[in-house]
Amino acid sequence: MPDLPQAALIDGKQIAETIHNETRARVDALKAKGVVPGITFVRVGEDPASQAYVRMKEKKAHDLGINSRTVVLPAATPEADLLALLEKLNADPTVHGILVQAPLPHPISETRVFSTVDPRKDVDGFHPANVGKLLLGDATGFRPCTPAGVHELLIRSGVETKGAEVVVLGRGNIVGKPMAAILLQKAPHADATVTLVHSRSRNVAETCRRADIIVAAMGQTEFLKADMVKPGAVVIDVGVNRVDDPSDKRGYRLVGDVDFEAIRKVAGKITPNPGGVGPMTIAMLMSNTVQAAENLTK
Ligand code: GUN
Repeated sequence: MPDLPQAALIDGKQIAETIHNETRARVDALKAKGVVPGITFVRVGEDPASQAYVRMKEKKAHDLGINSRTVVLPAATPEADLLALLEKLNADPTVHGILVQAPLPHPISETRVFSTVDPRKDVDGFHPANVGKLLLGDATGFRPCTPAGVHELLIRSGVETKGAEVVVLGRGNIVGKPMAAILLQKAPHADATVTLVHSRSRNVAETCRRADIIVAAMGQTEFLKADMVKPGAVVIDVGVNRVDDPSDKRGYRLVGDVDFEAIRKVAGKITPNPGGVGPMTIAMLMSNTVQAAENLTK
C-alpha cells in the first residue's frame, strides 16, 4: 500500500537558529559601539514551569552574548515591592529589556505590573502602549514573543497570509488576541481574514474546516482533531499542556493543542511540538531585547 501523504514539518528549531544568528550579529555590532545588551528577568514564587522557562531564556541570552540577570522574589512579595523593583530597573541604563514571568501569584495584578514596565524596555509587548501600537499597526512597538514567533514561522516557511482564512483558537492576551491583531493588519505578510474562536463560540469544527491556516492556542490537550482540518491547511500548535504520565521520569509529558499524528495526514504543513513554536518564542524575545538596546542607544 502506498504511504499516506504527510504534511511538511515547519521546523521551528531550525528557523529559530537562523534568527539567533541574525541576533548574534546585531549583538556584536552593539558591542563594537561599546554597548552590551542587557535583560533582567523577574520571577515571583517557585512555579516549576516558570522556573524552567526563565532558565531556558537566560541560557539563550548568555549564548548570544546578552547580559542577563534573574531577580527571584518570594511568592508572598507585596505588589508594591515588585512595582518598586520595576521602577529601579526602568531607571537602570544597563537594563534594556525587562521580563516579568507570568503567571504571577495572587493577589498581584498582572495588569498593574505590566503597565509599570517602561514601554521602551517591554520586550514582552504586554504594556498597554505596545498593545495599542500593535492594534494600530505602528511597528515602533514591541510585539508579544509567541504570536510574533508564529508570524515569523509563517513568513519563513513561505505560507501566504494575504486573503487567507485564518482561525485563531483562543483569545488570551499573550497569544490569541495579539495573533489576530498581527495577521489582520493591512500590511505585507498579513492581510488575512481572521476569525477568533473561543470557549463560547458556536460551530467550532465547521469554522475550523474553512481555514487555510489554524493557530491553536487555547490550552486544551489535542483539542484540534483531523476532521476539523481542511486538506492542505497549515496548522500551528502553540499548546503546552501537562498530561500525567507515570512512565515518564518527570511523571508527566507535554502535549500540544492539536492531535498531531492524525492531523499530519490531512494538513499541508504542521509544526512539530516540541520543536515548533517554543524555540521561536525565545528567538523573538532575544530579538526584541536587542531591538530595545538598539533603540535606547540611538
Ligand atoms: N508566561 C507564559 N508566556 C509568557 C510570555 O510570553 N512572557 C511572560 N513574561 N510570561 C509568560
